[in-house]
Amino acid sequence: MLHKFHRISALLIGSFTLFHLINHLYILGGVQQHIEFMDTFRLAYRNILVESILLFCVMFQVCSGLYFVWHRRGQRSGFLERAQAISGLYLAYFFINHISAVLYGRFVADLDTNIYYGIAGFHTEPFQFYFIPYYFFAVVALFVHLASAFNWLSRNSIQQSLRTKFSYVIILIGVTFSTTLILGFCGVFGEISIPQEYSATYE
Ligand code: HEM
Repeated sequence: MLHKFHRISALLIGSFTLFHLINHLYILGGVQQHIEFMDTFRLAYRNILVESILLFCVMFQVCSGLYFVWHRRGQRSGFLERAQAISGLYLAYFFINHISAVLYGRFVADLDTNIYYGIAGFHTEPFQFYFIPYYFFAVVALFVHLASAFNWLSRNSIQQSLRTKFSYVIILIGVTFSTTLILGFCGVFGEISIPQEYSATYE
């Protein structure tokens, strides 16, 4: 039963995350395009109902995920089964930090938590040494988790060698996607200058 709810909740978080990551790809066209996409996307999730469901699902996902890791400790074998636990643990760490930071930015620092807020750390010495790997591994962990879930859910319908290949392709797509985003956030495809009110949060 808990597994079923974990999957339903993953689908809801996954639907948001799909558009969230597409939103981040807009950084390749510049900060203004990113902000415009987010302003439109916010019409869908920045309301009490959707946001409460989303944040409840995130909390549930973290708690149920930690329970699964603990419950199956010592029983996992093979790369993908172990990777599922490790990526899940990293996602739990990321979710707790990411959501706390967004809520802090909005309700305590009273900032518009747009992309400037998300990536100010990339452009403030020495915080890039934390934030670049932090976000890079978050996106990679998401794809690794997806690949492990795919590998498990298709175990009765796809031959093992093919399943493993598909899973590695999913991980490779994740690494490429994550690298592209990080380069974009670093300003490799176009200069990014962080407004003072956002860099001030690191002073
Ligand atoms: C790739 C780097 C990422 C950056 C720079 C980033 C940045 C942001 C920003 C700026 C917000 C605030 C949005 C708003 O104010 O409307 C946000 C919210 C959020 N992000 Fe991310 N994010 C990243 C990756 C992810 C990933 C990988 C996930 C999921 C696994 C995720 C899940 C969420 C969630 C659940 C919210 C809360 C939405 C809300 O209630 O406002 N983010 N992120």
